[in-house]
Amino acid sequence: MHSAGKYVKNVAIPAMAVVIGFGLVALLRPAATETTYFSSASQDARWGKSYLPNLPVVDQDGKVYRFYDDLIQGRKVIVNFVFTSCSAICPLTMARMVQLKEKLGDIPSKDLKFYSITVDPEHDGPAELKRYADAFQLGPDWKMLTGKPEDLQIIRDKLGERSRMKSEHRHEMLIGNDPIGDWSKDSAYGDLDRVALNIRSMDPVWQRSSSPATVRSANSDFIDMSDTPGEALYVKACASCHTVGHGDRVGPDLQDVSTRRDRAWLTRIISRPDAVLASNDPIARELKTRFPTVAMPNLGLSEQDAADVLHYIDSKSGGDKGSPGKTLAATIKQ
Ligand code: HEC
Repeated sequence: MHSAGKYVKNVAIPAMAVVIGFGLVALLRPAATETTYFSSASQDARWGKSYLPNLPVVDQDGKVYRFYDDLIQGRKVIVNFVFTSCSAICPLTMARMVQLKEKLGDIPSKDLKFYSITVDPEHDGPAELKRYADAFQLGPDWKMLTGKPEDLQIIRDKLGERSRMKSEHRHEMLIGNDPIGDWSKDSAYGDLDRVALNIRSMDPVWQRSSSPATVRSANSDFIDMSDTPGEALYVKACASCHTVGHGDRVGPDLQDVSTRRDRAWLTRIISRPDAVLASNDPIARELKTRFPTVAMPNLGLSEQDAADVLHYIDSKSGGDKGSPGKTLAATIKQ
């Protein structure tokens, strides 16, 4: 792990290492969710025009911007780093950030910007970024950014993303409040409600709109999380990409999946999706044609986890199918 020097105080273990070593459960552990502020009063300068580069970057539609002047100056922003060929944890990070954005859906998009910067500009041009953005249904307000490798390197360095290998890149998001030069980092794997509150604390108007009553009425599906292991796992690790009975999202609708597929195959695709998808299995080939951009990530789940989550999916398939015409955001329960 390369520390980002003076900017990062409590360096968390990189998400990848945690996933490989201990599995998803460790990744979602509370310790990884602490907010770390790295532009505190004890440091000399706040991040701003004199610190952040103003180099050109290009978004998924091929539009060119000056990084600081056009994208950061005077704004509140959420920034993360990805690369589109990453099959492990970036898709889950992206999916969780989409969930976070939905939680902040009442904040006008002109007031809070989301940027995903590629760590693989050699491979990720605007076209690749566009496909990725479409797979996650990001919409026009969320910019995925690429540029000249040497320029992006400088931007990444300044933002404290200094991994040497792209697979090591950090999976935190940066939360920037340029008007006061304050930046912090947070994890997309913690309690997203807490992260959303932290983001809302940047603006008194956003804070007011987060009163419990508003949150409940904004999300008609508001439910208390039960202790059922399969449900908790589904909400944290699957709901960002799948629905049960509300149509395809990043991955297929899982309604009645146990009727369409054999149990052993389902256990394998949930616990070892990379192996199944790399095999010549005809179902895997068909799924690849339907979902060519983002692959189901290997989350390090055990067969018991797979059994628990399938149990929950089966119970959802049989019971509450929700009412038709609900928005995508309303189908995501967390
Ligand atoms: C980052 C997005 C993402 C996440 C997170 C994710 N999946 Fe998937 N899933 C996919 C995609 C995409 C496919 C289609 C296969 C492919 O191309 O990778 C898929 C396929 C599947 C299938 C096969 C469906 C069928 O019709 O045969 C099952 C079952 C499944 N996922 C269950 C899960 C479960 C359970 C979780 C949570 C533990 C989960 N997925 C998390 C994206 C995701």
